[in-house]
Amino acid sequence: MTKALAIAIDGPAASGKSTLAQSLAEHFEYLYFDTGALYRAVTLAALQRNVEINDEQSVTKLALEVSIDLVPPTQQDSRQYDVLIDEKDCTWEIRSAEVDAHVSQVSAYPGVRSALKDQQQRIGRRGGVVMAGRDIGTVVLPEADLKIYLDASVEERALRRHAELEARGQQADYAQVEQSMRIRDEIDANRAIAPLRPADDAIVLKSDGKQAKDVLAIAIKLVEAKIEELS
Ligand code: DC
Repeated sequence: MTKALAIAIDGPAASGKSTLAQSLAEHFEYLYFDTGALYRAVTLAALQRNVEINDEQSVTKLALEVSIDLVPPTQQDSRQYDVLIDEKDCTWEIRSAEVDAHVSQVSAYPGVRSALKDQQQRIGRRGGVVMAGRDIGTVVLPEADLKIYLDASVEERALRRHAELEARGQQADYAQVEQSMRIRDEIDANRAIAPLRPADDAIVLKSDGKQAKDVLAIAIKLVEAKIEELS
């Protein structure tokens, strides 16, 4: 029997990881797991409960206490899954500009990362999963069968994120989106723990100027070759 692979897809914000990971998971009937949603959910919970984002200890305590769940979508409004925080649907709230502005700081806290790493490993190690994030190939699942690092220029990523926000009717100024993206890149790539970088054995794909379907076609070929190699 063919082994169900564990696939890691890492890369910076708005590089197209989520779209690729979801389509790849659908194609192979694997589970799609967007790990960024966990960091966003902790950030949103902190903002909603007036926990001071600069207060590392309190944010870490919250990450250990709050119940976060990703479940199959219950509404057809282009969501890929429902995000539940203490059982309340927060699927779109975790995508707000306010969460965007604070999530990198929250995800740089070691205690937050360790609380969320355990949850990610439990699911990832079962196989049959496409996990999207920043440190899946380097830290969460270094033993993943296939690692893809999806990259694109900051300008292209800011344009995509701006279009996404507008499509959802959220106010967005392009210059601010690009600035916020540069700041997040800087924090994500330079933090002490699990900084954003391709694993040594990752395959790096650039998505500039490519349509999602073209990137998907390349990734499907990579997965098929890996399945063949392992069978
Ligand atoms: O992929 P995203 O934009 O939804 O991720 C939100 C933030 O979470 C991002 O700024 C970095 C952080 N993150 C992380 O540190 N590690 C992951 N595995 C996934 C996301």
